Amino acid sequence: MRKVEVRLGDKGYDILIGSGLLKETAQQLKGIGFSDKLVIITNPVVQRLYGNALEESLSAEGFKVTALLVADGEEQKSLDIAGRLYTELTSAYAERATPILALGGGVIGDLAGFVAATYLRGVPLVQIPTTLLAQVDSSIGGKVAVNHGQLKNKIGAFYQPRLVISDTATLKTLPAEELASGMAEMIKSAVIKDREFFTFIETKLDKIKTLDDTVMEEIVFRSAKIKAEVVAKDELDMGLRNILNFGHTVGHAIETVSDFKVEHGQAVAMGMMAAARIAQRLGLLDRGELTRLKGVIAGAGLPTEMPKLDTKGIIEAIKHDKKIVAGKVRFVLPRAMGDVFVTDEVSPSLVEEVLGG
Ligand SMILES: NC(=O)c1ccc[n+]([C@@H]2O[C@H](COP(=O)([O-])OP(=O)(O)OC[C@H]3O[C@@H](n4cnc5c(N)ncnc54)[C@H](O)[C@@H]3O)[C@@H](O)[C@H]2O)c1
Repeated sequence: MRKVEVRLGDKGYDILIGSGLLKETAQQLKGIGFSDKLVIITNPVVQRLYGNALEESLSAEGFKVTALLVADGEEQKSLDIAGRLYTELTSAYAERATPILALGGGVIGDLAGFVAATYLRGVPLVQIPTTLLAQVDSSIGGKVAVNHGQLKNKIGAFYQPRLVISDTATLKTLPAEELASGMAEMIKSAVIKDREFFTFIETKLDKIKTLDDTVMEEIVFRSAKIKAEVVAKDELDMGLRNILNFGHTVGHAIETVSDFKVEHGQAVAMGMMAAARIAQRLGLLDRGELTRLKGVIAGAGLPTEMPKLDTKGIIEAIKHDKKIVAGKVRFVLPRAMGDVFVTDEVSPSLVEEVLGG
């Protein structure tokens, strides 16, 4: 088992990473002082694969477990579903000290986290991420949220979990496109902070794609460590945390303009390539570095070219993105693999040129 500490003073917590860790959940929960009653929030897919076994093992260790189910899918991240969960928590006699275990991908993590942050003004949250994206990114850092109308992820809170348990064996059942989505965020982590990790990914792509146990543990550990370091320095997203948006300025716009037909990981991959091309045209990034990034993204099975979408629409969507500060679009640009900076000074014409408009 590997461990990453998220250093946030009295809000700090551990991220435990390893193959087969789910079996140790009871022991780990007892280790941080939980006993008695707890609630698992999950979806039917994850319940069938892992939830039932987890419930049984926790019950066998003396926990009184209530499992609450929400359907699969992003549309479940809503105030309506949160409202239904509050009612179900009340029926289950959940109290201030009753922990909520979020078992699933980023959708469950964000929704169950939002419910944990708000039910009775906050009950303890434990993240048990089962997708690569959730293990390398969304379960760490305390951003919890639901969607509301056009406001995607904008009704939420910063609410840190008490523990994150990442069982890398659960990744073996992930559909290929979900694995690729997580790989996009993992590549992002390496590019923003860790050149050596980027080289590691570059040389281990085959083993990542075949889900080699040792390599998966290593990449989840290294990605989690990067995110934990950034979050520890900027919990409330006031500055440094911006770098986690590398690839997301253009990526979100592509998702929006494609009406979410281009899925997140693919959009982020295209967004990372767009940011790198902007940096290269500004003379900040060597062509060799751009080629390496392209190689890793393509090697992960992700797209490196822009989709056939309305370029003007993408630019408009970028302007409406939340990362606009004082009317300027914020970009995270790479200077090299492992080194990025944030700038508001990218001209719209350069963006258009790179997007192929
Ligand atoms: N809070 C944050 O900081 C943060 C960061 C990034 C993304 N997010 C959010 O995360 C969400 C995306 O998360 P995601 O990519 O994990 O999607 P997801 O939660 O929808 O999971 C993807 C699919 O995989 C299934 N699944 C989960 N675990 C599985 C397993 N082990 N085996 C087989 N199938 C499994 C799910 O049922 C679902 O169908 C978005 O809502 C996004 O906004 C949040």
